[in-house]
Amino acid sequence: MFRRKFLTTALATAVALSISSLYGSAYAANLQPTQPKEDWARDSVIYQIYPRSFADSDGDGIGDLPGIVSRLSYLDKLGVDALWLSPFYKSPQADAGYDVADYRLVDPMFGSNEDFERLLKESHARGMKVIVDLVPNHTSDEHAWFQAALKAKPGSPERARYIFRDGRGENGELPPNNWPSVFGQSAWDRVPGEKQWYLHLFDSKQPDLNWENPVVRAEFEQVLRFWLDRGVDGFRIDVAHGLIKEPKMADLVIEEGRENAGALVGPMWDQEGVHEIYRSWRKILDEYPGQRIMVAEAWVSPRERLAQYIRSDEMDQAFNFDYLMTQWDATAFKNVIDSSIALTTTVKAPTTWVTSNHDVVRAPSRYGYSLKDQGKYALPGNGIGPNTPQPDEALGLRRARALAMLTLALPGSTYIYQGEELGLPEHTTMEDKYRQDPMFLRTKGEEIGRDGCRVPLPWKADAPSFGFGPSNKTWLPQPASYAGYAVDRQEKQSDSTLNLYRNLLKLRHEHRLGDGKLHWVEADKDVLAFDNGDIRVVINLGEQTAALPSGSQVLLSSEALPEAGKLPASTAVWLKR
Ligand code: NOJ
Ligand code: MG
Repeated sequence: MFRRKFLTTALATAVALSISSLYGSAYAANLQPTQPKEDWARDSVIYQIYPRSFADSDGDGIGDLPGIVSRLSYLDKLGVDALWLSPFYKSPQADAGYDVADYRLVDPMFGSNEDFERLLKESHARGMKVIVDLVPNHTSDEHAWFQAALKAKPGSPERARYIFRDGRGENGELPPNNWPSVFGQSAWDRVPGEKQWYLHLFDSKQPDLNWENPVVRAEFEQVLRFWLDRGVDGFRIDVAHGLIKEPKMADLVIEEGRENAGALVGPMWDQEGVHEIYRSWRKILDEYPGQRIMVAEAWVSPRERLAQYIRSDEMDQAFNFDYLMTQWDATAFKNVIDSSIALTTTVKAPTTWVTSNHDVVRAPSRYGYSLKDQGKYALPGNGIGPNTPQPDEALGLRRARALAMLTLALPGSTYIYQGEELGLPEHTTMEDKYRQDPMFLRTKGEEIGRDGCRVPLPWKADAPSFGFGPSNKTWLPQPASYAGYAVDRQEKQSDSTLNLYRNLLKLRHEHRLGDGKLHWVEADKDVLAFDNGDIRVVINLGEQTAALPSGSQVLLSSEALPEAGKLPASTAVWLKR
């Protein structure tokens, strides 16, 4: 779907919204009763902005909303349909903003609520949708509710908004159960001087909310409306599989040696009760004009269970983490593509394709290892540090470019994580002293964590902070190699990764690939080939040169093709059928 088609809808929506802020949302909802429902998200390309690291306007070393506004024309030129912003709300930043102290307020470090409204207006004016991150599983410990809970007594309504329990042992000196935090150590912290402990599936500074409490539900419905009233086009729902805990909260059966590891399956994840919450949110979103979407961040197993989150009366789409976890192997990619499409088709939801985000090692670094080492050093969430065997940067980049050609040709909705369009690698040699990820801190470095994929972007090769901001400050250090990936350099090179992405997105739109259907075509060993509309995609995931169909017209290739009719290793092409 070419987003400019929707400029008129965007304008109509803008009018409805300005009325809606005067009269409330119900009025706006009634404004266009006969207009067919927009369906922008089924085939969209959604660009993830990690505000801390995108662009810094004031030189404090932390990216901010005015920084994003100043780069909207870059994103427009890239050709994405929508932006997803990771949290920019008031937060002590114990988990880089996924610890929210006020859900309605932009943190001054990122700017003001007016800056957000400007960002929204200017994105809409360019035909780009904006979705924001909603973090409902936990608040910050600095949220007014948690502060009130600590001051109140056990059994009080203030405590009932979180999950407080008496500890075990004679004086409550042991945690209520053995659940580990996803970030390492116990998922419980004791209230000083008391028998009571509170649950935090993530950092100690991220107490879990009690979603059995109607007060919590009512509050989040208001938070949704607050941002919908401002005109956001949807929400990415953080930890969508975690809100409801099995009531008994029984001990986990933990394998030896994995006491610290977060578990995918267990009484805290993927409980049936979460779906009722999303059904109620769906109704709220549907009251608003246009299509407002919800995207589930849900790490569930077995993967079939993901379909439940995207039934027609719940969310619109869910991140496809199986695709993101796929190793560099033709059969593995073919299988995951088939099973992903089959799964989402059962509920008539679009399939999504994701290769990077702010929680996993960047794709060019993950794929810079041999197949056997990918499973060892480059598991998506693990991080790569100075003492880890280093990936092959050139090979990883080459594979990531080929992967982009595969991914952007698949039908459905695709996510691009900022810097992915530059082929940016992970910062793989960051010294420990700079690391800020609670995962690194809580495991005392046993898990390297996610800082390496969160490094501020390089915009200009020869400027301080590589043009991230006006000063040389960056909240995480940038590796020297980032100069070579800077936007200004890549703009000048016709075969740069940035220009490859621009061309891919343009062709994807023109040929409506997001809207299309995939038909596999027979191919050599280690090669995948499929047709989508009038485009044939061929990718060589092996180590030998493969043959291309004779007489094929190459529209785009991830690398120069030195020999006609041949496809080198780790290379992909789009052919005209
Ligand atoms: C998932 C987010 O993507 C991650 O960055 C965060 O640490 C956890 N949820 C906790 O909110
Ligand atoms: Mg700043």
